[in-house]
Order: sequence, then structure tokens, then C-alpha cells
Amino acid sequence: MNWNAVAGRFTPPARLAVIGDPIGHSRSPQMHNPALQASGIDAQYIRVQVPVGSVAQAFRQFAACGFLGVNITIPHKFEALDAVDVLDPLARQLGAVNTLAIREGKLHGYNSDGPGFLRSVKEAFGTDIQDLRVLIIGAGGGAGRAVAVQSALSGCRQLMLVNRSHEKAEAVAAEIFLLGRRAETSVIPWRDDALRAALAKTDLIVNATSLGMRPNDVRLLPADALLQRHLVFDMVYRADGRTPLLADAAAAGARTVDGLSLLLHQGAISFEHWFGRPAPLEVMREGLQNAVKA
Ligand SMILES: NC(=O)c1ccc[n+]([C@@H]2O[C@H](COP(=O)([O-])OP(=O)(O)OC[C@H]3O[C@@H](n4cnc5c(N)ncnc54)[C@H](OP(=O)(O)O)[C@@H]3O)[C@@H](O)[C@H]2O)c1
Repeated sequence: MNWNAVAGRFTPPARLAVIGDPIGHSRSPQMHNPALQASGIDAQYIRVQVPVGSVAQAFRQFAACGFLGVNITIPHKFEALDAVDVLDPLARQLGAVNTLAIREGKLHGYNSDGPGFLRSVKEAFGTDIQDLRVLIIGAGGGAGRAVAVQSALSGCRQLMLVNRSHEKAEAVAAEIFLLGRRAETSVIPWRDDALRAALAKTDLIVNATSLGMRPNDVRLLPADALLQRHLVFDMVYRADGRTPLLADAAAAGARTVDGLSLLLHQGAISFEHWFGRPAPLEVMREGLQNAVKA
């Protein structure tokens, strides 16, 4: 890639980016560019496709081209852990870096997914995670692990982990134990009876699997086990805002939030790392909503 061309062909100049592989689908530019403009920052946020194995090299190139920061998405969040000079302790605990801030040539790695999740829960449901019994489905994936560890670190009342590959959820529970768990943690088998029993003692249900993105995906949970008192957080989002899980939850009278909220709040926290000031949240929200509708 011609890096100087990447950085130089934009007006305002490209100073921020999201990397992934693939990356064409990312809505982050439509969220961050209006925020930069509203904040009077002369910089543009772009998408850059980076192949697996090239994250460290890409970070050095961004620094050499005068970039201020980068967001990191699938599949690079783990590779990025080893590609920074200074790793934030929370990113180390959550096991992934999704935000790079470049300061005086040094690469600082953060995770804004975990704290973004907490803000989303608070905004959507008016509740702190400390008050909730949390069931995370897909706890063995990258996003699920981050949300599980964040919930435990923040002292949720109870944590139940489920994953199709059961041993991955067990590994996350073991990591949480080693971190000095502040929440009672258990691993639930992915079986109808076990899920029903867990749902009966759950306040917040989190879908951290990729199920629900495609129209023919199988149902994540038995619809008749969803209750009006459940809070349902689907990390997946769709243009119509109604994933199958959220549609079932709404039919049961439960309160819901989709993955757009997490995308917004993690983006706002990245902005705060880059510029040391609050992000223009409503401008970012509008940018995202417009991008999803388009
Ligand atoms: N809204 C946001 O800002 C945001 C941020 C991060 C992630 N996400 C979303 O969260 C989801 C997971 O992302 P990730 O980065 O964690 O991906 P990942 O590391 O690849 O993990 C995928 C997870 O989904 C499970 N899964 C995949 N197909 C399944 C199936 N057919 N049946 C049951 N479980 C299945 C996997 O289970 P196994 O371990 O058994 O394979 C694993 O737990 C994606 O939909 C992503 O778009 C959203």
C-alpha cells in the first residue's frame, strides 16, 4: 500500500482510521466524521483494509503518516494486543485492543468495547451492571469474552456464561477467576433445559454470538422462555433494528437494545482517548442512524 497516498489524498487530511479485513461494511466513518466536523477538528476518519499478520506494520505506518488514532475491528483485536508500545491495563484484562491512540510516536492500546457496553446498559435500561444477574451467550468469542470480563470486573450480581463450544466459556470463567472475580460465575451448557433454568434467574441477556445477522439464522433462545422483566442486549444490529432475538423479546414485553448502541458508545470512548474531551454523542448517534438507514 502507498501509505503517503492514503494519508494525503483526503481533505480534510486522513488522521484517523478503522482497520479490519474485510472493512468495507464498517459504519465508523459515518459516525466519526460528523463528530470531527462538529468539534472543529481538521481531520478525516477512513477505512483501511489490513491483512492478518500486518497489524504491527500498519500501526507504524499510521504513526509515520501523522495519524492520531485507529479503531481495530474483526479479526485484528487480538493481534493488536502485541502491536502497541503501551497497553492499558483494562485492555490487557479484556484480552483485546480496539482503540489505538498515537501520542508523540508512541502506540497506546485501549479497549472501549467493555466500558462502552456498561454505558449502553446504563443508557438503555437506566441500570448499573452491579445490580444485574447477567447471562452472556457467545461468551467464548472475542466480544463475549470482553463483555463477560468487564461485567465480572464491574461486580455484576451473578454471571452465567454460555458458548456453543463449551470449553471456550469454561476458559473465560477460569480467566475471570484468576483476575480475582468479583461476581459469582458459572458456565451453562447450550441445552434447552439448562438455558431455560438460567433464564429464570437472569436479569440481563446478552447475545454476543453472530447469530441474528443473517435471515436464516437459527433461534438463539426459546421464545417462550423470554420474560417481561428481562433486559435484552443484542450485540448484533440490523437496518430495521429488529434481530430475531429482539423481536421475540419485544413480543414478550421485555426491554431491548441492539448493537448500534454499543457501536456508538465504544466510538465515543475512542474519541475521548484521542482528544481528551467528551465526544459529541448526539451527532455521532445521528450519523450512525443515517448510515444504517441508507
Ligand atoms: N455492536 C458492536 O459494536 C459490536 C462489537 C463487537 C462485536 N459485535 C458483534 O458480536 C458478534 C460476535 O463478534 P466477535 O468479534 O466476538 O466474533 P467471534 O470472536 O468470531 O465470536 C463469535 C461467537 O459467535 C458464536 N457463534 C458463531 N456462529 C454460531 C452458531 N451458528 N451457533 C452458535 N454460536 C455461534 C461463536 O461460538 P464458537 O466459539 O462455538 O465458535 C462465538 O461465541 C458479531 O455479530 C459482531 O458483529 C458487535
